[in-house]
Amino acid sequence: MTWKIIEKDGKLIAVKDSGKFPEENHFLERAGIPNAFRTRDFGNFRVDSKHPSLLKAKNSVLKYSEEYPAVDGGLLIMGPSGTGKTHLAVALCRKLMLEKRADCFFLDFRESLREYSYLQTQEKREEFLGFLSIVELLIIDDFASRNLTEWEDDFVFRLINRRYGDGLPLVLTTVFKGEELEKKIGVRMRSRLYEMCREINIEALDYRSKVRRASFRAEKGGKDEGKD
Ligand SMILES: Nc1ncnc2c1ncn2[C@@H]1O[C@H](COP(=O)(O)OP(=O)(O)OP(=O)(O)O)[C@@H](O)[C@H]1O
Ligand SMILES: [Mg+2]
Repeated sequence: MTWKIIEKDGKLIAVKDSGKFPEENHFLERAGIPNAFRTRDFGNFRVDSKHPSLLKAKNSVLKYSEEYPAVDGGLLIMGPSGTGKTHLAVALCRKLMLEKRADCFFLDFRESLREYSYLQTQEKREEFLGFLSIVELLIIDDFASRNLTEWEDDFVFRLINRRYGDGLPLVLTTVFKGEELEKKIGVRMRSRLYEMCREINIEALDYRSKVRRASFRAEKGGKDEGKD
């Protein structure tokens, strides 16, 4: 990806340089939202009475988007696989970019490490780290989704530490929480995140399997309807 530095409200920030797109797509493309998630927003995030944490999570993220930029820090969205963490992070990113004209970057944790590892020179790696460190709002999806090598750990720690030092918001999604997360990223990183992010905990069923079950039922003519 290519980047450029622009001045916004007297601050230098990094934005992705992504050519010409129609207005909405331009913003979403610039933010790095995966194609499959382009249509995800708060409106199509469904909640049900069986899982109150879904409504709570949706309301917390929505509130954050409404209050932005008058917010204190970022968000740490935790929950099992398929419970809508990425959906909510994308919804936030869309809303902030389209309605608040915030410069957000949406990064997949593994992809960003891969991209970093492909950079050939120390100078290019420092540049990459430098840009991510000053992006207005950085979203890292699937944070800590794999164990880190020493140099990856150094990269992630420095990124978080720089944003921590500059008071810049970070929105993370992860399947880990508590001690498990601490084990993955270490005490020092975890400690900074405590201070940097408001925690949102989702406890719900895997939506992917729910959707599969529903379409299976539909194919069978809805015989099992209501069993769940
Ligand atoms: N509450 C919901 N309402 C509508 N769609 C949902 C909801 N939760 C999840 N989905 C959809 O289900 C799919 C999986 O959700 P998502 O990718 O956000 O889960 P996740 O928590 O990020 O999972 P993982 O940890 O595996 O990345 C997506 O297509 C998403 O849009
Ligand atoms: Mg996800």
